[in-house]
Amino acid sequence: MCGIVGYIGKEGAREIILRGLTRLEYRGYDSAGIALFNNEEKTFNIYKDMGRVAHLESITDFSYPSKIGIGHTRWATHGRPNQVNSHPHQSGNHRFFIVHNGVIDNYKELKSDYLEFNTFDSDTDTEVIAHLIEKFSNEMSVNEAIRKTMSLLEGSYALAIMDTENSEQLYACKNKSPLLIGIGENGIIISSDLMALVGYSTKYIPLQDKSFVEISGNQYVIYDVIGKQMEHDIKTIDIDYFNIEKGEYAHFMLKEINEQPSVIRTIISKYFDEDKVTLNGEIKKALSVSDRLYIVAAGTSLNAGYIGKEMFEKMAGIPTEVHIASEFAYNMPILSSNPLFIFISQSGETADLRAALVNVKAKGYRSLTLTNVKTSTLAREADYYVELHAGPEIAVASTKAYTANLAVLAILAYGLSNQSFDLRNELSKVAISIENIIDKHEYIESLVKESLTKRNCFYIGRGIDYYACLEASLKLKEISYIQTEGFAAGELKHGTIALIEEGTPVIAIISQRKTSKNTRSNLNEVKSRGANTFVISTRGVHEHGDQIVLDDVYELFSPILTIIPAQFIAYYAALHRGYDIDKPRNLAKSVTVE
Ligand code: AGP
Repeated sequence: MCGIVGYIGKEGAREIILRGLTRLEYRGYDSAGIALFNNEEKTFNIYKDMGRVAHLESITDFSYPSKIGIGHTRWATHGRPNQVNSHPHQSGNHRFFIVHNGVIDNYKELKSDYLEFNTFDSDTDTEVIAHLIEKFSNEMSVNEAIRKTMSLLEGSYALAIMDTENSEQLYACKNKSPLLIGIGENGIIISSDLMALVGYSTKYIPLQDKSFVEISGNQYVIYDVIGKQMEHDIKTIDIDYFNIEKGEYAHFMLKEINEQPSVIRTIISKYFDEDKVTLNGEIKKALSVSDRLYIVAAGTSLNAGYIGKEMFEKMAGIPTEVHIASEFAYNMPILSSNPLFIFISQSGETADLRAALVNVKAKGYRSLTLTNVKTSTLAREADYYVELHAGPEIAVASTKAYTANLAVLAILAYGLSNQSFDLRNELSKVAISIENIIDKHEYIESLVKESLTKRNCFYIGRGIDYYACLEASLKLKEISYIQTEGFAAGELKHGTIALIEEGTPVIAIISQRKTSKNTRSNLNEVKSRGANTFVISTRGVHEHGDQIVLDDVYELFSPILTIIPAQFIAYYAALHRGYDIDKPRNLAKSVTVE
C-alpha cells in the first residue's frame, strides 16, 4: 500500500525522494511526507500533510542542500488520513525519523509491554516502532536496537529510518512488505518498488524478509535479525523510462486501455515459436500432472481467474477451482491429492495472496505465479512463474493486466490441451478486434453521457459473460463510484430485481450462443420494470438495436473483447463526473496489507 523512498548520497535527496514518491503515489495517496537533513545548518526538518505528493512539494523548503532523507506516501490503515498520522513519524525525543509500509499486528501489546509511560502523537502503529528503536538505542548500538525492535514486531513492515545523531547513515529493514535498494553511481535509494529507481540506478537488490541494511555513502551491509551478514543478489532494472510516463494521453488508464492490442501481440511474440506454443517444460509438467488447479487471486486478477477456470476446464479438461485470496489464506477447502496452486497477481505483491502462498508452501504444495512483475515477491516465492508482459501498469484501475492475464491463461490452457485450432491466429484476431473497439471510443462516450446518469448500475450475463460482468462492474464502481453489481442474469429475479427502478441502467454482455436468448429474456424482465437497458454483444449473437456489437472471436476469448467497451464506459463515466481517474478515492494499486 504505502510507498517509501529513502536516499543517501552526493545528489539532492529532496529531488530524488519527491520524484520517487510521485512514481510510488499509485501505492497510496491519502497523505505524503518527507524528512530531510539540512547539510548547511546541520538540522533535520520534516514536512508532511494530507493530500498528494504535489502538495507535499509545495510545502517543502527547497532553499538548502540535503544529501540524506526519507519520504512516504500513505494509504491509511491505523488512524484517519490527517497531518498528524502522516509519515515520517518520530520517536519520543525526536531522535529517530521513520517511514513505514505495512501493518504491525501487535503494536498495542508492544505499547503496553515496553512503552507504558511514553506519549504518542498519532494513532498509528508506526509511531510505536520509532519509540521502541529509541528506547533500545539507549542501551545498545542503533544497529542492535533496530534488530531488537524487528524481533518484537509481528506483522508486515518495510521501514526506512534516520538517526538525527548520525546524518551519515540510513537504515532500512523489511518483513513481508517489499523493499529494494537501488545502487546508483552517486548514492543509494531505498524504495518500495522499482518505479522510484528507474532513471537513477540500473542495479538493485530486493531485500529478503527479516533483513536489515545499514547504508553510509555508497556502502551497504545487509544483516539478518541476529546480526549475521546476509548474501544478496544484485539485479538489473529492465523497465523502460518511457513506459512509466503518460505521453500524449490524458490519463494512464486511457493509455493502458489503448495499449491492449500491442500487449496481446507482445504476448504472442513471447509464447509462440512460429505457430507452436512454447511453454517452459517444467511448468507444463507441473500443470499437467496435477489433478486439480486452484486459482487464488484478488480483484481484477480474481475476475481473470474465473475465466481461466473456464479455459482450463473447457480447453484442457483439468478441473479448476477459483478462490478469493483473503478467504483462502485462512479457510482452505478440502484439497485434491495432487493440487497445483496458481496465484494470479499483476503486482505480485498482494498481501492476501502472499498469506495464502505461505500456507500452501508450508503444506508442501507446488505453486505457480502469473504476474506482470517478474521481480515481485510472489514470483520469487512460488515454485514457478509466468510473466504477463503487459508492461508497467500505473493506473489503479487494472485494464491491460486483465487482458494480458486472459491471453496468457489461454496459452497455458491450450498448451495443456489437445486442441488443434490456430491459437496464434485467434489471438491475433482478438488484437485487431480490440483496435476496432478502440476506434469507437467516442461513440461509447456518447452512450455513457446519455445513459449512466444514475447512482447505481447492473451488468448482467451468463457463464463466461457473467464473469466478464464481474470485471466490468468492478471497473465502473472503482473509478466512477457508481454502485455497480455484476450479476448472473438468471439470478437477478431471485431478489436483487427489487432494486430496479425507473431508469436504472442495466448493461447486458451477450457473447455466448447457448445462453444469449435467456439473458435477453432477463433483460426484458428488468426493462418492463423501468430499467434503462443496453447490450454489448458479439456479431454472431447480436440483435437489431444492440448498442455495441463486437467482432466474433473464439467463444472462450470473448471476455478479452467484451471488457474493452466496459473499460471505456468506466473511464468516461469517471471523466464526466470529474473524478481522479488514475487515483480513485480510498484505493491503492499495490495492496500490500491483509
Ligand atoms: C483492479 O482494478 C484493482 N485495482 C484491484 O482489484 C486489483 O486487481 C487487486 O488489488 C489485485 O491486485 P494484483 O493483481 O496486483 O494482485
